[in-house]
Amino acid sequence: LMAQTQVTIHANQGQQKIYKELYGQFAEHLGTCIYGGLWVGPNSHIPNTDGYRTDVFNALKELRVPVLRWPGGCFADEYHWMDGIGPRSQRPKMQNNNWGGTIEDNSFGTNEFMNLCEKLGAEPYISGNVGSGTVEELSKWVEYMTGDGDTPMANLRRKNGREKPWHLKYLGVGNESWGCGGNMRPEYYADLYRRYNTYCRDQHNNHLFRIASGASDYDYDWTKTLMDRVGNRMNGLSLHYYTVKDWSNNKGSATAFTNDEYYTTLAKCLQIEDVIKRHSDIMDKKDPQKKIGLMVDEWGTWWDEEPGTIRGHLYQQNTMRDAMVAALTLNIFQRHTDRIRMANIAQVVNVLQSMILTDTIGQGHMVLTPTYYVFKMYRDFQEATYLPASFTCDTLTAKPLMYKMTPGRVPTLSVSAAKKQDGSLVVSLVNPRLDKAEPVEIALDGFKGKQVAGTILTAKKVTDYNDFKHPDVVKSAAFTGAKVKGDKLKATLPPMSIVVLNVK
Ligand code: AHR
Repeated sequence: LMAQTQVTIHANQGQQKIYKELYGQFAEHLGTCIYGGLWVGPNSHIPNTDGYRTDVFNALKELRVPVLRWPGGCFADEYHWMDGIGPRSQRPKMQNNNWGGTIEDNSFGTNEFMNLCEKLGAEPYISGNVGSGTVEELSKWVEYMTGDGDTPMANLRRKNGREKPWHLKYLGVGNESWGCGGNMRPEYYADLYRRYNTYCRDQHNNHLFRIASGASDYDYDWTKTLMDRVGNRMNGLSLHYYTVKDWSNNKGSATAFTNDEYYTTLAKCLQIEDVIKRHSDIMDKKDPQKKIGLMVDEWGTWWDEEPGTIRGHLYQQNTMRDAMVAALTLNIFQRHTDRIRMANIAQVVNVLQSMILTDTIGQGHMVLTPTYYVFKMYRDFQEATYLPASFTCDTLTAKPLMYKMTPGRVPTLSVSAAKKQDGSLVVSLVNPRLDKAEPVEIALDGFKGKQVAGTILTAKKVTDYNDFKHPDVVKSAAFTGAKVKGDKLKATLPPMSIVVLNVK
Protein backbone atom coordinates (compact mmCIF):
# COMPACT_ATOMS: atom_id res chain seq x y z
CA LEU A 1 0.00 0.00 0.00
CA MET A 2 1.36 3.42 -0.92
CA ALA A 3 1.61 6.04 1.82
CA GLN A 4 -1.01 8.72 1.39
CA THR A 5 0.03 12.35 1.41
CA GLN A 6 -2.21 14.12 3.91
CA VAL A 7 -3.54 17.52 2.89
CA THR A 8 -5.87 19.86 4.76
CA ILE A 9 -7.90 22.45 2.88
CA HIS A 10 -9.10 25.17 5.22
CA ALA A 11 -12.48 25.69 3.63
CA ASN A 12 -13.63 28.16 6.30
CA GLN A 13 -10.57 30.41 6.07
CA GLY A 14 -11.25 32.06 2.74
CA GLN A 15 -10.60 35.81 2.70
CA GLN A 16 -9.23 36.90 -0.60
CA LYS A 17 -10.79 36.78 -4.04
CA ILE A 18 -8.59 35.38 -6.79
CA TYR A 19 -8.60 38.09 -9.45
CA LYS A 20 -9.72 36.75 -12.80
CA GLU A 21 -6.89 38.75 -14.31
CA LEU A 22 -4.35 36.18 -13.03
CA TYR A 23 -5.30 34.08 -16.06
CA GLY A 24 -4.57 36.92 -18.47
CA GLN A 25 -3.02 36.74 -21.92
CA PHE A 26 -0.55 38.81 -23.90
CA ALA A 27 -0.57 39.52 -27.65
CA GLU A 28 2.38 41.31 -29.23
CA HIS A 29 3.11 42.30 -32.79
CA LEU A 30 5.73 39.59 -32.95
CA GLY A 31 6.10 36.76 -35.42
CA THR A 32 2.65 35.40 -36.22
CA CYS A 33 0.91 36.25 -32.97
CA ILE A 34 -1.24 38.94 -34.57
CA TYR A 35 -0.93 38.36 -38.32
CA GLY A 36 -1.81 34.74 -39.07
CA GLY A 37 -2.62 34.09 -35.43
CA LEU A 38 -5.42 36.33 -34.20
CA TRP A 39 -5.94 38.21 -37.44
CA VAL A 40 -5.95 37.27 -41.11
CA GLY A 41 -7.98 40.20 -42.46
CA PRO A 42 -11.48 40.06 -43.95
CA ASN A 43 -10.25 39.11 -47.45
CA SER A 44 -8.33 36.02 -46.35
CA HIS A 45 -9.11 32.52 -47.63
CA ILE A 46 -8.84 31.40 -43.99
CA PRO A 47 -12.25 31.34 -42.33
CA ASN A 48 -12.65 34.57 -40.41
CA THR A 49 -15.18 36.89 -38.89
CA ASP A 50 -14.47 40.51 -39.82
CA GLY A 51 -10.80 39.57 -40.17
CA TYR A 52 -10.42 37.64 -36.89
CA ARG A 53 -9.60 33.95 -37.37
CA THR A 54 -12.78 32.10 -36.48
CA ASP A 55 -11.03 28.98 -35.11
CA VAL A 56 -8.70 30.97 -32.86
CA PHE A 57 -11.45 33.29 -31.69
CA ASN A 58 -13.70 30.38 -30.70
CA ALA A 59 -10.90 28.61 -28.85
CA LEU A 60 -10.11 31.78 -26.90
CA LYS A 61 -13.76 32.38 -26.10
CA GLU A 62 -13.77 28.94 -24.41
CA LEU A 63 -10.87 30.03 -22.20
CA ARG A 64 -12.79 33.03 -20.88
CA VAL A 65 -9.76 35.28 -21.39
CA PRO A 66 -10.14 37.92 -18.69
CA VAL A 67 -7.60 40.45 -19.97
CA LEU A 68 -5.47 40.84 -23.08
CA ARG A 69 -2.29 42.91 -23.12
CA TRP A 70 -1.28 44.60 -26.41
CA PRO A 71 0.60 45.74 -28.57
CA GLY A 72 3.79 44.65 -26.76
CA GLY A 73 6.27 43.95 -25.18
CA CYS A 74 9.20 45.62 -26.80
CA PHE A 75 7.06 46.43 -29.83
CA ALA A 76 4.95 48.81 -27.75
CA ASP A 77 7.77 51.31 -27.28
CA GLU A 78 8.21 51.70 -31.03
CA TYR A 79 4.52 51.66 -31.89
CA HIS A 80 2.82 54.84 -33.05
CA TRP A 81 -0.87 54.22 -32.70
CA MET A 82 -1.93 56.82 -35.27
CA ASP A 83 -0.33 54.65 -37.97
CA GLY A 84 -2.85 51.94 -37.13
CA ILE A 85 -6.17 53.74 -37.53
CA GLY A 86 -8.35 54.79 -40.47
CA PRO A 87 -8.80 52.96 -43.79
CA ARG A 88 -6.48 49.96 -43.79
CA SER A 89 -5.26 50.52 -47.34
CA GLN A 90 -3.98 53.95 -46.35
CA ARG A 91 -2.08 52.96 -43.23
CA PRO A 92 1.70 53.32 -43.47
CA LYS A 93 3.94 50.30 -43.17
CA MET A 94 6.57 49.94 -40.48
CA GLN A 95 9.59 47.80 -39.74
CA ASN A 96 9.37 45.68 -36.60
CA ASN A 97 12.88 46.36 -35.36
CA ASN A 98 12.62 44.22 -32.27
CA TRP A 99 11.40 41.07 -33.93
CA GLY A 100 13.27 40.07 -37.04
CA GLY A 101 12.91 43.33 -38.95
CA THR A 102 9.60 42.11 -40.38
CA ILE A 103 7.62 44.69 -42.33
CA GLU A 104 4.12 45.10 -41.07
CA ASP A 105 1.24 46.99 -42.63
CA ASN A 106 -0.51 48.22 -39.49
CA SER A 107 -3.74 46.56 -40.59
CA PHE A 108 -4.36 45.44 -37.02
CA GLY A 109 -4.58 48.59 -34.92
CA THR A 110 -6.53 50.16 -32.10
CA ASN A 111 -10.04 49.58 -33.50
CA GLU A 112 -9.25 45.97 -34.39
CA PHE A 113 -7.80 45.31 -30.93
CA MET A 114 -10.46 47.05 -28.88
CA ASN A 115 -13.26 45.39 -30.86
CA LEU A 116 -11.61 42.00 -30.37
CA CYS A 117 -11.53 42.49 -26.62
CA GLU A 118 -15.15 43.51 -26.62
CA LYS A 119 -16.15 40.40 -28.58
CA LEU A 120 -14.09 38.18 -26.29
CA GLY A 121 -15.38 39.82 -23.14
CA ALA A 122 -11.77 40.50 -22.11
CA GLU A 123 -10.49 43.68 -20.48
CA PRO A 124 -8.09 45.42 -22.85
CA TYR A 125 -4.66 46.25 -21.41
CA ILE A 126 -2.92 48.88 -23.52
CA SER A 127 0.83 49.14 -23.24
CA GLY A 128 1.77 52.73 -24.05
CA ASN A 129 4.86 53.97 -25.86
CA VAL A 130 7.19 55.80 -23.49
CA GLY A 131 10.52 54.75 -25.05
CA SER A 132 10.16 56.48 -28.41
CA GLY A 133 6.81 58.22 -28.11
CA THR A 134 5.63 61.45 -26.56
CA VAL A 135 3.38 62.42 -23.68
CA GLU A 136 1.05 64.04 -26.19
CA GLU A 137 0.81 60.87 -28.25
CA LEU A 138 -0.15 58.67 -25.31
CA SER A 139 -2.54 61.21 -23.89
CA LYS A 140 -4.31 61.45 -27.26
CA TRP A 141 -4.48 57.68 -27.51
CA VAL A 142 -6.34 57.53 -24.22
CA GLU A 143 -8.69 60.23 -25.47
CA TYR A 144 -9.22 58.37 -28.77
CA MET A 145 -10.24 55.20 -26.96
CA THR A 146 -12.20 56.58 -24.04
CA GLY A 147 -13.25 60.18 -24.79
CA ASP A 148 -16.98 60.80 -24.93
CA GLY A 149 -17.15 64.54 -25.57
CA ASP A 150 -16.93 66.76 -28.63
CA THR A 151 -13.13 66.51 -28.66
CA PRO A 152 -10.70 66.04 -31.55
CA MET A 153 -9.68 62.47 -30.70
CA ALA A 154 -13.17 61.27 -29.81
CA ASN A 155 -14.35 62.72 -33.11
CA LEU A 156 -11.53 60.99 -34.96
CA ARG A 157 -12.70 57.71 -33.45
CA ARG A 158 -16.25 58.46 -34.57
CA LYS A 159 -14.98 59.19 -38.07
CA ASN A 160 -13.33 55.76 -38.01
CA GLY A 161 -16.65 54.10 -37.38
CA ARG A 162 -16.83 53.79 -33.62
CA GLU A 163 -19.41 56.04 -32.03
CA LYS A 164 -19.25 55.07 -28.34
CA PRO A 165 -15.99 55.08 -26.46
CA TRP A 166 -14.56 51.71 -25.53
CA HIS A 167 -14.09 50.75 -21.93
CA LEU A 168 -10.38 50.78 -21.05
CA LYS A 169 -9.22 49.91 -17.57
CA TYR A 170 -5.59 48.85 -17.79
CA LEU A 171 -2.99 51.28 -19.09
CA GLY A 172 0.72 50.39 -19.01
CA VAL A 173 3.09 53.33 -19.05
CA GLY A 174 6.00 51.81 -20.98
CA ASN A 175 7.36 48.27 -21.09
CA GLU A 176 10.73 47.05 -19.82
CA SER A 177 11.86 50.65 -19.59
CA TRP A 178 15.17 49.36 -18.21
CA GLY A 179 15.80 47.54 -21.52
CA CYS A 180 14.08 47.55 -24.92
CA GLY A 181 11.73 50.27 -23.62
CA GLY A 182 14.47 52.91 -23.49
CA ASN A 183 17.38 51.57 -21.38
CA MET A 184 16.51 53.96 -18.55
CA ARG A 185 17.63 54.12 -14.97
CA PRO A 186 14.81 53.66 -12.45
CA GLU A 187 15.16 57.24 -11.16
CA TYR A 188 14.72 58.68 -14.63
CA TYR A 189 11.85 56.36 -15.49
CA ALA A 190 10.08 57.22 -12.23
CA ASP A 191 10.04 60.90 -13.22
CA LEU A 192 8.91 60.07 -16.73
CA TYR A 193 6.12 57.91 -15.35
CA ARG A 194 4.91 60.83 -13.24
CA ARG A 195 4.88 63.08 -16.27
CA TYR A 196 3.07 60.66 -18.60
CA ASN A 197 0.63 59.75 -15.88
CA THR A 198 -0.38 63.37 -15.38
CA TYR A 199 -1.72 63.70 -18.91
CA CYS A 200 -3.35 60.30 -19.30
CA ARG A 201 -6.69 61.61 -18.15
CA ASP A 202 -9.64 59.69 -16.87
CA GLN A 203 -12.39 60.52 -19.35
CA HIS A 204 -15.96 60.73 -18.08
CA ASN A 205 -16.84 57.38 -16.56
CA ASN A 206 -13.66 55.64 -17.59
CA HIS A 207 -11.20 55.15 -14.75
CA LEU A 208 -7.75 53.99 -15.68
CA PHE A 209 -5.82 51.49 -13.61
CA ARG A 210 -2.30 52.76 -14.19
CA ILE A 211 0.57 50.31 -14.40
CA ALA A 212 4.21 51.33 -14.19
CA SER A 213 6.89 49.38 -16.04
CA GLY A 214 8.46 47.13 -13.45
CA ALA A 215 11.44 44.97 -12.80
CA SER A 216 12.86 42.01 -14.58
CA ASP A 217 12.94 39.04 -12.18
CA TYR A 218 15.74 39.75 -9.69
CA ASP A 219 16.01 43.55 -10.02
CA TYR A 220 14.81 44.52 -6.55
CA ASP A 221 16.37 47.98 -6.77
CA TRP A 222 13.96 48.89 -9.59
CA THR A 223 10.96 48.04 -7.43
CA LYS A 224 12.32 49.94 -4.45
CA THR A 225 13.05 53.06 -6.49
CA LEU A 226 9.59 53.01 -8.08
CA MET A 227 7.89 52.52 -4.73
CA ASP A 228 9.89 55.42 -3.27
CA ARG A 229 9.49 57.83 -6.18
CA VAL A 230 6.16 56.93 -7.76
CA GLY A 231 4.28 55.36 -4.85
CA ASN A 232 0.53 55.61 -5.09
CA ARG A 233 0.62 57.49 -8.38
CA MET A 234 0.53 53.98 -9.81
CA ASN A 235 -2.14 51.33 -9.25
CA GLY A 236 0.09 48.52 -10.34
CA LEU A 237 3.76 47.75 -10.85
CA SER A 238 4.74 45.08 -13.32
CA LEU A 239 7.17 42.18 -13.02
CA HIS A 240 8.55 39.95 -15.78
CA TYR A 241 9.82 36.47 -15.05
CA TYR A 242 10.69 33.92 -17.70
CA THR A 243 11.56 30.28 -17.18
CA VAL A 244 14.64 30.51 -19.35
CA LYS A 245 18.00 28.78 -19.39
CA ASP A 246 19.97 31.86 -20.29
CA TRP A 247 19.63 34.85 -22.56
CA SER A 248 22.06 33.58 -25.21
CA ASN A 249 20.99 31.80 -28.37
CA ASN A 250 21.16 28.49 -26.55
CA LYS A 251 17.94 28.28 -24.59
CA GLY A 252 17.40 24.58 -25.24
CA SER A 253 14.93 22.68 -27.38
CA ALA A 254 11.24 22.97 -26.56
CA THR A 255 10.67 19.29 -27.35
CA ALA A 256 13.94 17.38 -26.92
CA PHE A 257 15.04 17.36 -23.28
CA THR A 258 16.10 14.93 -20.58
CA ASN A 259 14.26 14.11 -17.37
CA ASP A 260 16.93 16.05 -15.49
CA GLU A 261 16.27 19.09 -17.64
CA TYR A 262 12.57 18.70 -16.96
CA TYR A 263 13.07 18.85 -13.20
CA THR A 264 15.48 21.76 -13.55
CA THR A 265 12.83 23.63 -15.53
CA LEU A 266 10.22 23.06 -12.85
CA ALA A 267 12.60 24.15 -10.10
CA LYS A 268 13.38 27.34 -12.03
CA CYS A 269 9.70 28.08 -12.59
CA LEU A 270 8.97 27.51 -8.90
CA GLN A 271 11.59 30.08 -7.95
CA ILE A 272 9.23 32.78 -9.12
CA GLU A 273 7.64 32.42 -5.68
CA ASP A 274 10.74 33.69 -3.92
CA VAL A 275 11.01 36.52 -6.45
CA ILE A 276 7.38 37.48 -5.83
CA LYS A 277 7.91 37.44 -2.07
CA ARG A 278 10.96 39.66 -2.27
CA HIS A 279 9.28 42.22 -4.50
CA SER A 280 6.18 42.10 -2.27
CA ASP A 281 8.27 42.66 0.86
CA ILE A 282 9.72 45.80 -0.72
CA MET A 283 6.24 46.95 -1.72
CA ASP A 284 4.91 46.18 1.79
CA LYS A 285 7.29 48.73 3.33
CA LYS A 286 5.65 51.61 1.45
CA ASP A 287 2.26 50.05 0.91
CA PRO A 288 1.38 47.80 3.84
CA GLN A 289 -2.27 47.77 2.85
CA LYS A 290 -1.34 46.26 -0.50
CA LYS A 291 -3.18 48.84 -2.56
CA ILE A 292 -0.63 48.72 -5.36
CA GLY A 293 -0.90 45.52 -7.37
CA LEU A 294 2.03 43.44 -8.54
CA MET A 295 1.26 42.70 -12.18
CA VAL A 296 3.24 39.76 -13.56
CA ASP A 297 2.48 40.90 -17.07
CA GLU A 298 4.97 38.60 -18.78
CA TRP A 299 5.80 35.06 -17.69
CA GLY A 300 6.29 31.58 -19.11
CA THR A 301 8.86 29.34 -20.76
CA TRP A 302 11.29 30.60 -23.38
CA TRP A 303 13.01 27.97 -25.54
CA ASP A 304 14.93 27.99 -28.80
CA GLU A 305 12.79 28.74 -31.81
CA GLU A 306 11.56 25.69 -33.71
CA PRO A 307 14.07 24.62 -36.36
CA GLY A 308 13.20 26.09 -39.75
CA THR A 309 11.17 29.01 -38.39
CA ILE A 310 12.09 32.68 -38.78
CA ARG A 311 14.66 34.02 -36.33
CA GLY A 312 13.24 36.58 -33.99
CA HIS A 313 9.70 35.22 -34.33
CA LEU A 314 9.91 33.19 -31.11
CA TYR A 315 7.76 30.36 -32.44
CA GLN A 316 8.14 27.42 -30.06
CA GLN A 317 6.43 24.08 -29.46
CA ASN A 318 4.75 23.28 -26.18
CA THR A 319 4.96 19.94 -24.33
CA MET A 320 3.63 18.42 -21.15
CA ARG A 321 6.61 20.13 -19.47
CA ASP A 322 5.17 23.53 -20.41
CA ALA A 323 1.78 22.50 -19.06
CA MET A 324 3.46 21.65 -15.75
CA VAL A 325 5.13 25.07 -15.65
CA ALA A 326 1.75 26.70 -16.26
CA ALA A 327 -0.08 24.77 -13.53
CA LEU A 328 2.65 25.18 -10.92
CA THR A 329 2.97 28.88 -11.66
CA LEU A 330 -0.78 29.51 -11.52
CA ASN A 331 -0.89 27.74 -8.14
CA ILE A 332 1.78 30.16 -6.91
CA PHE A 333 -0.06 33.22 -8.23
CA GLN A 334 -3.20 32.05 -6.49
CA ARG A 335 -1.31 31.80 -3.22
CA HIS A 336 -0.15 35.41 -3.55
CA THR A 337 -3.39 36.88 -4.74
CA ASP A 338 -3.33 39.44 -1.91
CA ARG A 339 -0.59 41.26 -3.86
CA ILE A 340 -0.78 39.92 -7.41
CA ARG A 341 -3.59 41.56 -9.32
CA MET A 342 -2.82 40.35 -12.81
CA ALA A 343 -0.59 37.97 -14.73
CA ASN A 344 -0.24 37.61 -18.50
CA ILE A 345 1.39 34.54 -19.95
CA ALA A 346 3.65 35.23 -22.93
CA GLN A 347 1.99 34.87 -25.39
CA VAL A 348 -1.45 33.92 -26.63
CA VAL A 349 -0.80 32.55 -30.15
CA ASN A 350 2.35 31.32 -31.94
CA VAL A 351 4.84 33.06 -29.64
CA LEU A 352 6.72 31.54 -26.67
CA GLN A 353 4.47 29.55 -24.29
CA SER A 354 1.34 29.94 -26.34
CA MET A 355 -2.18 28.63 -25.98
CA ILE A 356 -2.57 28.05 -29.69
CA LEU A 357 -0.39 27.31 -32.73
CA THR A 358 -1.59 28.12 -36.23
CA ASP A 359 -0.47 28.18 -39.81
CA THR A 360 -1.94 29.80 -42.87
CA ILE A 361 -1.34 26.99 -45.35
CA GLY A 362 -4.50 25.91 -47.17
CA GLN A 363 -7.49 26.51 -44.96
CA GLY A 364 -5.07 27.04 -42.05
CA HIS A 365 -4.43 24.61 -39.23
CA MET A 366 -4.86 25.30 -35.57
CA VAL A 367 -3.76 23.23 -32.59
CA LEU A 368 -4.38 23.75 -28.92
CA THR A 369 -1.26 23.34 -26.81
CA PRO A 370 -0.98 21.48 -23.48
CA THR A 371 -0.78 24.93 -21.86
CA TYR A 372 -4.17 25.79 -23.39
CA TYR A 373 -5.74 22.88 -21.51
CA VAL A 374 -4.28 24.07 -18.21
CA PHE A 375 -5.86 27.49 -18.68
CA LYS A 376 -9.13 25.83 -19.59
CA MET A 377 -9.03 23.63 -16.50
CA TYR A 378 -8.26 26.63 -14.28
CA ARG A 379 -11.19 28.75 -15.50
CA ASP A 380 -13.18 27.99 -12.38
CA PHE A 381 -10.62 29.69 -10.19
CA GLN A 382 -11.50 33.07 -11.70
CA GLU A 383 -13.10 35.22 -9.00
CA ALA A 384 -13.32 32.30 -6.54
CA THR A 385 -12.16 32.83 -2.94
CA TYR A 386 -8.71 31.50 -2.20
CA LEU A 387 -8.51 28.81 0.50
CA PRO A 388 -5.26 27.99 2.30
CA ALA A 389 -4.07 24.37 2.18
CA SER A 390 -1.47 22.70 4.39
CA PHE A 391 0.51 19.54 3.78
CA THR A 392 3.98 18.09 3.75
CA CYS A 393 5.44 16.08 0.90
CA ASP A 394 8.75 14.86 -0.47
CA THR A 395 11.03 17.21 -2.32
CA LEU A 396 13.20 16.28 -5.28
CA THR A 397 16.42 18.09 -6.01
CA ALA A 398 17.26 19.46 -9.44
CA LYS A 399 20.45 20.83 -10.92
CA PRO A 400 20.45 24.65 -10.89
CA LEU A 401 21.34 24.94 -14.56
CA MET A 402 19.06 27.77 -15.64
CA TYR A 403 19.37 31.56 -15.50
CA LYS A 404 20.39 32.77 -12.00
CA MET A 405 18.92 29.72 -10.28
CA THR A 406 19.69 28.83 -6.72
CA PRO A 407 19.85 25.11 -5.84
CA GLY A 408 16.72 23.61 -7.31
CA ARG A 409 13.93 21.91 -5.41
CA VAL A 410 10.69 20.43 -6.66
CA PRO A 411 8.06 19.39 -4.10
CA THR A 412 6.29 16.26 -5.28
CA LEU A 413 2.86 17.83 -4.85
CA SER A 414 1.32 21.23 -5.49
CA VAL A 415 -2.17 22.03 -4.20
CA SER A 416 -4.38 25.06 -4.65
CA ALA A 417 -8.00 25.42 -3.58
CA ALA A 418 -10.76 28.00 -3.75
CA LYS A 419 -14.44 28.37 -2.99
CA LYS A 420 -16.67 29.35 -5.87
CA GLN A 421 -19.55 31.74 -5.59
CA ASP A 422 -22.02 28.81 -5.71
CA GLY A 423 -20.36 27.40 -2.58
CA SER A 424 -18.57 24.52 -4.31
CA LEU A 425 -14.84 23.92 -4.08
CA VAL A 426 -12.32 23.93 -6.89
CA VAL A 427 -9.08 22.12 -6.13
CA SER A 428 -6.01 21.76 -8.31
CA LEU A 429 -3.58 18.93 -7.56
CA VAL A 430 -0.32 18.64 -9.45
CA ASN A 431 1.97 15.63 -9.38
CA PRO A 432 5.13 16.63 -11.26
CA ARG A 433 6.92 13.33 -10.69
CA LEU A 434 7.57 11.32 -13.83
CA ASP A 435 7.83 7.90 -12.25
CA LYS A 436 5.38 7.73 -9.36
CA ALA A 437 1.71 8.15 -8.69
CA GLU A 438 0.78 10.34 -5.72
CA PRO A 439 -2.10 9.15 -3.53
CA VAL A 440 -3.57 12.04 -1.57
CA GLU A 441 -6.07 12.18 1.23
CA ILE A 442 -7.56 15.60 1.75
CA ALA A 443 -9.35 16.75 4.87
CA LEU A 444 -11.89 19.42 3.97
CA ASP A 445 -11.91 21.48 7.12
CA GLY A 446 -15.29 23.22 7.29
CA PHE A 447 -16.82 21.62 4.21
CA LYS A 448 -18.98 18.58 3.55
CA GLY A 449 -18.92 17.15 0.04
CA LYS A 450 -21.45 14.95 -1.71
CA GLN A 451 -20.05 14.67 -5.19
CA VAL A 452 -16.85 15.32 -7.06
CA ALA A 453 -16.11 15.76 -10.75
CA GLY A 454 -12.69 16.20 -12.26
CA THR A 455 -10.50 16.83 -15.27
CA ILE A 456 -6.98 15.57 -15.83
CA LEU A 457 -4.13 16.54 -18.11
CA THR A 458 -1.35 14.02 -18.52
CA ALA A 459 0.66 12.44 -21.34
CA LYS A 460 2.49 9.25 -22.21
CA LYS A 461 5.82 11.05 -22.35
CA VAL A 462 6.74 14.41 -20.87
CA THR A 463 8.09 15.43 -24.27
CA ASP A 464 4.70 14.86 -25.92
CA TYR A 465 3.15 17.78 -27.79
CA ASN A 466 0.44 18.52 -30.34
CA ASP A 467 1.17 19.46 -33.92
CA PHE A 468 -0.88 19.97 -37.06
CA LYS A 469 -0.66 16.29 -38.01
CA HIS A 470 -1.27 15.02 -34.46
CA PRO A 471 -3.41 17.65 -32.76
CA ASP A 472 -4.77 15.47 -29.92
CA VAL A 473 -1.69 13.83 -28.39
CA VAL A 474 -1.99 15.85 -25.17
CA LYS A 475 -5.46 16.93 -24.15
CA SER A 476 -7.57 17.08 -21.04
CA ALA A 477 -9.95 14.25 -20.15
CA ALA A 478 -12.49 13.46 -17.46
CA PHE A 479 -10.91 12.26 -14.22
CA THR A 480 -12.84 9.66 -12.29
CA GLY A 481 -10.20 8.75 -9.73
CA ALA A 482 -11.47 11.01 -6.92
CA LYS A 483 -13.97 10.14 -4.17
CA VAL A 484 -15.55 12.39 -1.58
CA LYS A 485 -17.41 11.44 1.56
CA GLY A 486 -18.28 14.28 3.90
CA ASP A 487 -15.07 16.07 4.80
CA LYS A 488 -12.77 13.44 3.25
CA LEU A 489 -11.58 13.72 -0.34
CA LYS A 490 -9.31 11.07 -1.85
CA ALA A 491 -7.55 10.83 -5.17
CA THR A 492 -4.58 9.11 -6.72
CA LEU A 493 -2.71 11.37 -9.07
CA PRO A 494 -1.00 9.51 -11.92
CA PRO A 495 2.63 10.39 -12.64
CA MET A 496 3.07 13.70 -14.47
CA SER A 497 -0.51 14.83 -14.00
CA ILE A 498 -2.52 17.96 -13.41
CA VAL A 499 -5.95 17.36 -11.90
CA VAL A 500 -8.65 19.93 -11.20
CA LEU A 501 -11.58 18.80 -9.06
CA ASN A 502 -14.91 20.41 -8.42
CA VAL A 503 -16.44 19.31 -5.12
CA LYS A 504 -20.07 19.96 -4.28
O1 AHR B 1 7.50 38.38 -24.77
C1 AHR B 1 8.62 38.65 -25.57
C2 AHR B 1 9.41 39.84 -25.08
O2 AHR B 1 9.98 39.56 -23.84
C3 AHR B 1 8.65 41.11 -24.85
O3 AHR B 1 8.47 41.84 -26.00
C4 AHR B 1 9.52 41.86 -23.91
O4 AHR B 1 8.82 42.74 -23.07
C5 AHR B 1 10.24 40.78 -23.15
O5 AHR B 1 11.61 41.00 -23.12
